[in-house]
Amino acid sequence: MLKPSPTLSIAARANAMKAEGVDVISLSAGEPDFETPEPIRAAAIEAINSGFTKYTPTSGIKDLKEAIIHKLSVENQVAAAVENVVVSCGAKQSLYNAMMVLLEPGDEVLLIAPYWMTYAEQARLAGAVPVVVHTDASTGFTPTAEQIIEKITPRTRAIVLNSPSNPSGALYSRETTKAIAQLALRHDLWVISDEIYDRLVYGEKATSIASLGSDIAERTVTVGGCSKTYAMTGWRIGFAAAPKPVALAMTNLQDQVTSNPNSFAQKGAVKAFRMPSDQCEPMRAEFEARRDLIIGLLREIPNVDVSMPKGAFYALPNLSAYLRGRITDDICLAEHLLDKAMVATVPGTVFEAPGHIRMSYAASRENIRRGIERIANALQELSA
Ligand SMILES: Cc1ncc(COP(=O)(O)O)c(C=O)c1O
Repeated sequence: MLKPSPTLSIAARANAMKAEGVDVISLSAGEPDFETPEPIRAAAIEAINSGFTKYTPTSGIKDLKEAIIHKLSVENQVAAAVENVVVSCGAKQSLYNAMMVLLEPGDEVLLIAPYWMTYAEQARLAGAVPVVVHTDASTGFTPTAEQIIEKITPRTRAIVLNSPSNPSGALYSRETTKAIAQLALRHDLWVISDEIYDRLVYGEKATSIASLGSDIAERTVTVGGCSKTYAMTGWRIGFAAAPKPVALAMTNLQDQVTSNPNSFAQKGAVKAFRMPSDQCEPMRAEFEARRDLIIGLLREIPNVDVSMPKGAFYALPNLSAYLRGRITDDICLAEHLLDKAMVATVPGTVFEAPGHIRMSYAASRENIRRGIERIANALQELSA
C-alpha cells in the first residue's frame, strides 16, 4: 500500500483552515513563493499563440534537450548528448522512470536519511526495498563512505543522492561525492542523483557526481528540473541525463504512461535553462537572506538544535527536547503547531528524521518572523 504524501496532506489541511478564515502561516511548502520570471512566461504564451499545442516527441523537443545539455555542461560540468536526455513531467517523473527501469523486484536501494519520502515509495513501486543509511547533524547530515558500505549487500543495486538535500539542506562536499563515486564503482551500483536544488546554494557549489569521470557518468542518472530554481513548480518540467540504453528505456516507459510533457511548458523551459544566471540571482539571494533569518530566530529558542543548511530552502531543527507528555512524537508536535500556533510545518518522521520538524523558508521574511515567533510561544507553553 502506497503511503500518501504527508507533506501535501498537511498543506491541504492548512489550506482548509485558511479557507475558513484562520490566519495560518505556511512553512510547509516545497515551492518558491516567487512568480515565474517574465521571459519564461512570455515564451510559453508565444508558443500557445503560435499553435505549439500538439504532441511533441515523448522525450522532449530538441531545442529543450539542447538547452538542458547547455545547462549541464556550463553549470554542472556534466557532458550529455541529445540521446542521453529525457524530459518528463517534473523531476518526480524522471525519478520514477529511473527507478522503474533500473530496479528489479527484491533489489535494495540505498537512501541517505533524512530523505525525501518519494524515493522510498517509488522504489517500492518498482518492487525494490529501500535501505536506510542514517546521518545526523553532527556531520551536517552528510554520510561517510563507511556508513554507506556497511549497508551494502549482494542485493544492493542503486544509491539515491540528493545534494543539496530536501529536507536537511545538506550539501555534500566534492570529497564526499568522490568517495561515493568510488564506492559505487567498486560495488557496481547505479547512482540516481537528484540535483533539483543544484542552484540554490549559499556558499560552496554543488558537485554533480556525473562530472567526476566518464566511468561514474556511465552509471549515473542525473535528475534536474526547473521547478525550484525558476519558480516553475506548476509547469511540470523535469529531466534526466542517463547513459543511452537507460535513457531509451525511460523514454519507452514514458511513452506508455504520459507521452510528452506539456508542449508549451517545454518552450518556457527552453527560456529558463538558457537564462543568464544573474537573472535568477535575486531569488537565490533572497533565499539566502531568509535562511539566515530563520536559523537566527530558531537558535534563539531554548533547547532547539538546528544546523545551518547549505542549500535548498528548508531548516530541520531538532525539537526532541519538546517531546513529552501528550506530545509523544514529532507528528503530534507538527499537529500541535498547526492547531495552537497556526503554523504549518512537516514532521521529520516523514523524512526518517524523528524528533525533527521541517520548516520551509520559501515564505516571505514577514511570515518567517511571525511564524517562528508563534512557534517559540507554543514551545514555551509546552515546556511551562
Ligand atoms: C528532493 C526533491 N526532488 C524532486 C522534487 C520534485 O520536483 P518536480 O517539481 O520537478 O517534480 C522535489 C519537490 O519537492 C524535491 O524536493
